[in-house]
Amino acid sequence: MIEMKVTRLKREAEGILGIELQAADGAALAGFEPGAHIDVYLADGLTRQYSLCNDASETSRYCLGVGLAAASRGGSSYLHTSLREGDSLTIGEPRTLFRLSRDAMCHRFIAGGIGITPILSMIRWCVRHSILWQLHYCVRSRTCAAYLDELSAFGDSVHVHANDELAGQTTDIQTLISDVKVGEHIYCCGPAGLMDAVSLHSQQSGIPRENLHFERFSASPTQISANSERSFTVVLAKQGKRCVVEPKESILESLERQGVCPPFSCREGLCRSCEVEVLSGEVEHRDYVLSEEEQVANKSLMICVSRAKSDELVIDL
Ligand code: FES
Repeated sequence: MIEMKVTRLKREAEGILGIELQAADGAALAGFEPGAHIDVYLADGLTRQYSLCNDASETSRYCLGVGLAAASRGGSSYLHTSLREGDSLTIGEPRTLFRLSRDAMCHRFIAGGIGITPILSMIRWCVRHSILWQLHYCVRSRTCAAYLDELSAFGDSVHVHANDELAGQTTDIQTLISDVKVGEHIYCCGPAGLMDAVSLHSQQSGIPRENLHFERFSASPTQISANSERSFTVVLAKQGKRCVVEPKESILESLERQGVCPPFSCREGLCRSCEVEVLSGEVEHRDYVLSEEEQVANKSLMICVSRAKSDELVIDL
């Protein structure tokens, strides 16, 4: 954990708060990869993940953009209403689940609302390294679009699609990917509806799965629950314990009920904090962070959402 000081707060757009953090002791910070995020530890055990949006080569500060979630469970509403310059904030080391492909010929970014934050650090990297890129930034209106001033400096590479300028229509996602070139990679971060549409149209257009990169900051409403119709048993190999996971609970909840407290953060299959190695048994993956290859390999699972297809699952705990 790293103790940070809030050195600047700025309203970046309607409902979006920019937060600049520097190490409380003034020390240099660890570098990070474009697209990385940090865990922010808040009161009452709340942990939230926020993407870093500044230049990844900077070691003097981390910058976050925090959208005020409509159904905030305490994280964004606390930061928006109570955080002040000079306050302390505890964070974790930067982690990267959403990264630029080094194999790509060029990059096409599709951001929805606050999904611009990880993409902004990717764009800064592309500019620094003279890599071809373009951005499609989908927002309700320009007043809700953070970092527009900075992005406007990039001229024709940036395309803003504001719903209130489309006569009440929403952006036609198909057109955003209709001219994707061979070797071009697509990166999408934003609301579930946008990401699902980009995924669907990309697949229908024959874009290879490995050329698509998604960063979710909320689970799909249809997939958020770890509930199921059946129970199964989880065997904790190191501890020699057997735990029954009931239909209406996750593996994580079952372990907590029985006094086992493994690490976790988002509890929605988004952050990889709760990943545990699978020793035997077949997993029904419900997370958003493992690639298709990793899911098929059946070597690990996110215990906050994933379940077992087999009656028993032996895990490395
Ligand atoms: S706690 Fe985030 S993936 Fe499980």
